[in-house]
Formats: sequence, C-alpha cells, structure tokens
Amino acid sequence: MDEKKKTYDVLVVGSANADLTVRVDRRPGAGETVFGTDLVESAGGKGANQAVAAARLGVRTALLAKVGDDAFGDLLLAAQREAGTDVRHVLVERGARTGTAMIVVGPDGDNSIVVSPGANARLSPADVAAARETIAASAVVSLQWEIPEETVRATVRAARETGTRVVLNPSPTPRDGLDRELLAAADPLVVNEHEARHLSGLPDAEPAAWLHELRRKGARSVVVTLGAEGALLLGAEGAEDAGPARVPGLRAEVVDTTGAGDAFTGALASRLAAGAPLLEAARFAVRVGAAAVTRAGAQPSYPTLAELPPEQGALP
Ligand code: RIB
Repeated sequence: MDEKKKTYDVLVVGSANADLTVRVDRRPGAGETVFGTDLVESAGGKGANQAVAAARLGVRTALLAKVGDDAFGDLLLAAQREAGTDVRHVLVERGARTGTAMIVVGPDGDNSIVVSPGANARLSPADVAAARETIAASAVVSLQWEIPEETVRATVRAARETGTRVVLNPSPTPRDGLDRELLAAADPLVVNEHEARHLSGLPDAEPAAWLHELRRKGARSVVVTLGAEGALLLGAEGAEDAGPARVPGLRAEVVDTTGAGDAFTGALASRLAAGAPLLEAARFAVRVGAAAVTRAGAQPSYPTLAELPPEQGALP
C-alpha cells in the first residue's frame, strides 16, 4: 500500500450522536431521582468523535455516517466541517432523528451513557458500496460498533478488496463477540479493559493473556487501552517490533473522560496512516487521550497538535 497516493489519511465509518450531558454529584440508583447541572448539548458519537480527533490533528479525514434532518444533524455536520473533516459522505436521512446520547458525568469525571441510535441504525451496506472509491482512496479506515454489524462487515470487505488498513474499535462491545472475518481485519483491534475481558473470553486472566488470546483468535494486532494507566499492545505475529509492549499513562487533571477512547483511536489511526509503527502510534495516541480528559465533552475536548502534552510527565 502506497499511502502517498491516497486522498485521505483516515476514513471513519461510524456513528454520529448529539451528546446531551448533565453532571451530577452522585449517580442515581434504580427508581431514584437526583438533580444535575444545566444540560449541555455537544457533538459526539464514537465515529464522529474519531473523525474530529484525527482532523484536529491535521490529517486528511473523511467521515461516512448518517444523521437525521433535524437540528442535531446540523450541529454534528457543523462540528465536522469546523474540524476540517470531508463530510461529503455524511448522509442526511429524511424523517429520521439524529442519534442521541444521554450522558451523566460523575464527580470523578467518569460517565454513564445511553445511546438512542436514530439515523445511525440506517447506515447501510449500500451506503458503504456507494463510498467504495473513498475507501480505496484512504490509507486507514476506522470502525466502531454503533452502526449495524452488516455495515461494519461491508466496510471490512471493501477495505480488504481495496487494500485499506482497518482499525477496529468494537465499542460498545458486541455481546456475541466478533467472528474470525471481523477479527482478521483488525490491524489493530482497539479495546478497553472491559472489552478485552469479554472478547478474549478470559475475564479473569492477566492483561498480557488478553493480548495473546485476541491475536490467537484472529486479530492481526491488538491494543488494550487502560485509561490513566496508558495502553498495552501486541503487534502482528512475526513482526520485528511485535512486542508485547506497554505505553505508560500520563498524569492529567481529569475533568471528563467522555470520548477519551475515541480520541485515542482517532489519533492512533492518524499515525498509522502516516506509516508509523504501532508502538509509536500508541505513544502519540496516549498523549491525545490524556489531553482529552482535561476538558468537558467529547469533541469539544480534543486537542490540536499544539495542545498536546509532552510524552512524559504531567500536562501543563
Ligand atoms: O465514546 C463517547 C461517545 O459515546 C459519546 O460521544 C456518545 O455519543 C457515545 O457514542
């Protein structure tokens, strides 16, 4: 694959949601009502977040997604345009509601999210087929799990046929796991601790075992994100720098972790598209994720290159 001839560094195929966020002192239990802060509306959705993360870092980024013909759809399109994403494949579905995420952020900056998929559920294999030339013209295609599985699969197949590298972040985790076709496309598979436990089928094992098991099950390479603890990775079998390796976390003043994993994945994809080895790309992505937790919201928290913390030590 000759990345220099590609039109795009990163094509994200995935979801776009309006994030409706409230901060609370304490999360409510079942049947309980609590008061929160004023509601904040911002641009989110795991796919759209990855696209903004990559575009803000200065790489040529396109997004294939679907929104409704409503005010939230306008908000999401405006956020992509402002970041510099090519939005020609962001489709507006008449009569559909834009995907929406109800987010509660606790005092520790951690969040709970309920997603109403809306138009995301209508992003179809036919939409992927219509974007085939863009897939072929991209160095990396990045996928998550907030759109239909058949659409993810159609993208994986198109990427295989056009020689485009796939970054697969199966989040939220599919309950039935991933079959070999999907795993074999992932280079890397990007999962958090919870997802790694589930998809490896080794919930009680040590993290190193998740890496090896996920690669044994078919993933070409694997990255496990550990939040403040950084990331673990295992490169392609037989590769000189296959690892396993650990990228340490960076100290950061946590305000809101929403979308930090998407920032990590978008950043990782952007460096892989430039031809960086997995370890170097993961080091860069940890810096981007650490910057993202220091501000509120998903897309509003993503840094430019100039705002990145150094590789070691605390954020300024
Ligand atoms: O990963 C964070 C994202 O998850 C939010 O932006 C929300 O829209 C949900 O998709």
